[in-house]
Amino acid sequence: MILQFNKVNFSYSSHRVLHDCSFAVSNGELVYMVGKSGCGKSTLLQLCYFNLFPDDGEVVVAGFSSASASEKIIPALRRKLGIVFQDFKLLSDRTVFDNLAYILEINNYPAKKRRGRVEEVLRDLGILHLKNSYPQTLSGGEQQRTAIGRAIVNEPLLVIADEPTGNLDPQTSEEIVSIFKDISLKGTAVLLATHNYDIIDPSAKILRIEDGKVSPVRIKK
Ligand SMILES: Nc1ncnc2c1ncn2[C@@H]1O[C@H](COP(=O)(O)OP(=O)(O)O)[C@@H](O)[C@H]1O
Ligand SMILES: [Mg+2]
Repeated sequence: MILQFNKVNFSYSSHRVLHDCSFAVSNGELVYMVGKSGCGKSTLLQLCYFNLFPDDGEVVVAGFSSASASEKIIPALRRKLGIVFQDFKLLSDRTVFDNLAYILEINNYPAKKRRGRVEEVLRDLGILHLKNSYPQTLSGGEQQRTAIGRAIVNEPLLVIADEPTGNLDPQTSEEIVSIFKDISLKGTAVLLATHNYDIIDPSAKILRIEDGKVSPVRIKK
């Protein structure tokens, strides 16, 4: 199990967002987290990377528990995670190559292997030819591929994606979703939050947040 929520409660002051939430994500599993805007998807994801902590209950990620987490273990946890956002959050003053290489540098990845690792990831994502480009010169889809590359370059155990197709057209969204599927098929778990049911593969594991509760759903297409 790479991620586990055990009876998690979370409120922003008096506004209760999650109530008694329990679910789990296995290693290498692709899980969609769906629900209406404002239902608590981004909040739930922030609980996964210890940007927020539960009021009650426990979140266990890659063996780290929210109950025992001190500030000190957060960098160690983050090294096991890759995070992707709707707005990419790339470093605009660095090339595509350097956006990925930077992650390897701060994680003390062996210097001699960095170039090879970055190029391997960019090749897999179909953007090796863009390695010397700056983010603002790229299309949305290319920027999101770069952001995904940055999330996976350090070989995380879990990739967390918050509305990763929110800024993309339907065709590009489909391509991005299939990249996440490939990532999970290679053994990295993916938790993908979206309010857009169109991008969901109905055969995948789908969880929905509704009235503060997380439960499995089936989607017909
Ligand atoms: N920092 C915050 N402070 C207070 N309320 C917040 C904060 N962030 C989100 N909320 C509220 O919590 C609820 C869940 O938000 P969010 O997790 O962003 O939902 P989603 O990602 O599903 O759209 C919403 O009602 C939102 O307005
Ligand atoms: Mg959100």
